[in-house]
Parts: sequence; structure tokens; C-alpha cells
Amino acid sequence: MDDGDSGAPLEVMDRLIAASGLPAPVSVHTIDSDGNGLDNRLMRAELTDGRMVVMRQSRVATTSPRRRVDFLRANGINTPKLFASDDAGAALWEYISGQTLADSVANGTADRTAWRRTGAALAELHAVTFPASLEGTIDADSLSLRTTDPVESLLDNLAASGPWVEKHRPRLRGALEHVRCFIADRATQIRTARPSVLHGDVNLLNIVVNEDEARLIDWDFPRVGQPLAELSALDEHAYLHGLDGLPSSFFEGYDRPVPRDLLLAYRIVGCIGWLASGDWEEWDRAPELPDAARSRLDKWHQRLLDWSIGIPEVITTLR
Ligand SMILES: Nc1ncnc2c1ncn2[C@@H]1O[C@H](COP(=O)(O)OP(=O)(O)O)[C@@H](O)[C@H]1O
Ligand SMILES: [Mg+2]
Repeated sequence: MDDGDSGAPLEVMDRLIAASGLPAPVSVHTIDSDGNGLDNRLMRAELTDGRMVVMRQSRVATTSPRRRVDFLRANGINTPKLFASDDAGAALWEYISGQTLADSVANGTADRTAWRRTGAALAELHAVTFPASLEGTIDADSLSLRTTDPVESLLDNLAASGPWVEKHRPRLRGALEHVRCFIADRATQIRTARPSVLHGDVNLLNIVVNEDEARLIDWDFPRVGQPLAELSALDEHAYLHGLDGLPSSFFEGYDRPVPRDLLLAYRIVGCIGWLASGDWEEWDRAPELPDAARSRLDKWHQRLLDWSIGIPEVITTLR
């Protein structure tokens, strides 16, 4: 990986705190010793006025997220506040107190309220909609949108996984053909769903829950796309953390209609697509990956493989 050249973490943190006009830090801690942060070095500082901030320093040089964050917040999306940033990949953020939804699921404290709030947090960004048939990235200071037919995207993704399926899961051939027909049959309904802002990297480590709210953090990859694609990714991550999928309380908080059969179709296409992707080999070859992150990814890979075996059973609801 290329090193961002913003400098030694403590110096960078001091520089960003000074630039933001915040008071000096009284203590600084490295966060993330268990390998949660794959892309960033993370430090938390307590300031003399008692406030907490987080410094994220990307391992690769990255343009300041300032304009992107302003755009998201101007549209009512409650990202953490951005206090200061540079163009080398360092940024100073509001610290969101609480625990990640991943920890909260692991220690059994993720109750219905936490999930309802998570649903409300996703609804907030999915409410920022775009005209039909657009998709693309929300970059540092521009949006790169292309006209995209969501039906064609789903079918293309499914077709692109074909060689992997033939090699590793030939028994799924019939079930995936059923999914393909289901998508084609429901094309009109799929096309009527408006694209919206998506977080772009939803997983339980990027959601912080506390006694008041659930907040999405790690806004490196926001995009415009289909809300169902993002919901199905989160559903899959809930499963990767040991649940069946998103609980009903999530959908209460989301509070807008979610056609469960379409959600399942998105999830199947996403699951097979991820299994067929180059991610797993790339992570296998990444020497800098912390052990905790590696064992988490190995576990996720196995769980995805296990879930894929059950696809012929779950698709009986797709008619
Ligand atoms: N603003 C924040 N408030 C509270 N905790 C944070 C914040 N930013 C990061 N963290 C903690 O650090 C971890 C990794 O940070 P993240 O921004 O997701 O980096 P990465 O891109 O490396 O995944 C998160 O899972 C969370 O525990
Ligand atoms: Mg993250």
C-alpha cells in the first residue's frame, strides 16, 4: 500500500486540532487494536473541554472529504461532524460515543431499540433520492453518475458470477436460473425504485449505537444507487455477525416499504457476486492485514459459502 504523506500521527493530530480551532488534547489513544480499521490509522483524543475527537489517517493519499461531507450534511444526512482535514488523507472527526453494532451484537446488547435506530439511520440517507436509472460515486467534489438500468445490473452481476458457480457451486445452477427469471419477471417493479444516496460500505463495524441514536461512520465510499442493494448488504452483514439477517425491529425503524422477495433476490446476487469476486484472494495475499481482521474475513468467507448452499431452499419464496 502507498503511504499517505500527511506525517507522523501525533503531529498531524495536533495540526488538525489547531486548524479546527478546537482546544488542545489532554490525552490521546490509538483505537482499533483488534484490526477493525483496515484502511485507516485511528486515534481518539480527549480535549481540554471534555469533547472527544477521532483522527483518521488513510494509509493511502486521499483528497479531503470536506465538500462531500458538506453535501451529505446539507441534505440532512447526519454524518459525524468533520472538524478539519488535509489532502494527504488525514481528517479530524466528531467522536460518536457508544459501541459498534458489531460489538453490541457480539455481547448481546443489540436490542430492538438499537436496531430500530439503525433502520432510521439508513432511512435518513435513502430519503435523498435521485431520478430513476442513475448510479455512481459521490466523489470529493463532484458526483459521477451514469445512466444504469438496475435490472440489467442485477442480471449482468449474476451472469458475471457464472464461471465461479460452474467451478465451485454447480448444484446452484438451477436455483440461480430461477432467480434470473424472477428478476426478469419483476423488472417493472425493480425499475420503479428510486436510486438514493447510499453509505456504500454498510457493515456492523461502521455503525455506532448509544443510548440516544445509531450513527453511520466511515464515509469513505458514499454513492448513488439502489436502496435495496444497500439493505441486502446490511442484511448479509447481520448474518455474518451470527444473526439470521436484519431483525423486524430494523424494518420498523426504516419505516418505508421493503419488498422482501426483491431484497432476497438482491442478497443472492450480492452474495454470489462477492464469493466470485477477487476480494478473498486479495486478502489472502495482503501481508499487512492484522490477524484479527484476517480471522474475521476467513469466518465471513465460510459463512457466505454456507449460506450459498441454502439458496435452493430460500428461493421457494421467489415467485
Ligand atoms: N467518529 C467515530 N466515532 C467513534 N468511533 C469511531 C469513529 N471513527 C472510527 N471509529 C472506530 O474505529 C473503527 C474503524 O474506523 P473506520 O472509520 O471504520 O475505519 P476503516 O475505514 O479503517 O474501517 C470503527 O469500527 C470504530 O470502532
Ligand atoms: Mg470501517
